Amino acid sequence: MSARNCCFQFLERGWRTPYIYQFQGFWCQPKEIQAILLFHKHFQARESDIILATIPKSGTTWLKALAFAILNRKQFPAFSNNHPLLVSNPHDLVPFFEYKLYANNQIPDLSKYPEPRTFATHIPFQSLEESIKKSNCKIVYICRNPFDTFISSWIYCNKLRAETLPPLLREDCFNMYCNGAIGFGPFWDHMLGYWKESLERPDKVLFLKYEDMKEDTSFHLKKLAKFLGCPFSMEEEKERVIEDIAKLCSFEKMKNLEVNKSGKSIMNFENRHLFRKGEVGDWMNYLSPSMVEQLTQVMEEKLGGSGLEFKLLS
Ligand code: A3P
Repeated sequence: MSARNCCFQFLERGWRTPYIYQFQGFWCQPKEIQAILLFHKHFQARESDIILATIPKSGTTWLKALAFAILNRKQFPAFSNNHPLLVSNPHDLVPFFEYKLYANNQIPDLSKYPEPRTFATHIPFQSLEESIKKSNCKIVYICRNPFDTFISSWIYCNKLRAETLPPLLREDCFNMYCNGAIGFGPFWDHMLGYWKESLERPDKVLFLKYEDMKEDTSFHLKKLAKFLGCPFSMEEEKERVIEDIAKLCSFEKMKNLEVNKSGKSIMNFENRHLFRKGEVGDWMNYLSPSMVEQLTQVMEEKLGGSGLEFKLLS
């Protein structure tokens, strides 16, 4: 079935494309729908697979770098001068299903991927391919507070926007965000899908928060390594392997690498736009008091009672 043949009940104005469509209960672009349909049809999970899941602008690039560095630390110690992360953007090392592997009508040959195969996606939990949900493969989700995620998304989409088009207005985008109309959103459904699954199946889904990771990266790296089945040994801890990985993947280090200042690793988006400020609480510089009130209300209404809470400031 092609994206065109799908029956769309709803469409909305998009941020990057003229329209986004509601597909299986979430919003996305026609090209993404095409890729997701192929992914659903052809992907078969292995028990050893690792899936990194996020809603855009929540720390995907960072999570990819950290997971890659943890999983490959025997072959590539984080301090080594020939570490792949020094010459490759994390999106090249951990490919997206919808933007790379199944994009442009491709059906990838995944047999060449060494185990554990590590992939990434923005697809909500309920729309993941069935074998991912049913098997024991592991999912790591990183969640970021909606205030910073909104600002990061709005600024990023403006940077990707053709110069011939007028800029995306903060107020317009904010209203769309609060109404749920953002790629792979509504954000609350996306977060709750993975959150609930992480509570029901903690061995299956690890739910991380960007703000907690920033506050204590080493603690969360240990948690991540244990979840991925490769905990740090006492010896590694003594040798400061965890700190080396945190440093290699830090915002400052990654932003200043040549590979991340140039080139394009996701579609035709420039890598340099993936690294902006990497802070908690930058929303304070952009949101008016009434916007803060509006988003707070949305969060209370949609996420209240779920147990999912956020730090909004560092
Ligand atoms: P800001 O726009 O707030 O700076 P994603 O990778 O999902 O697209 O998320 C992008 C956000 O993560 C951006 O936030 C970006 O600066 C931040 N980021 C990128 N690399 C990071 C890193 N190594 N550590 C912490 N934050 C990072």
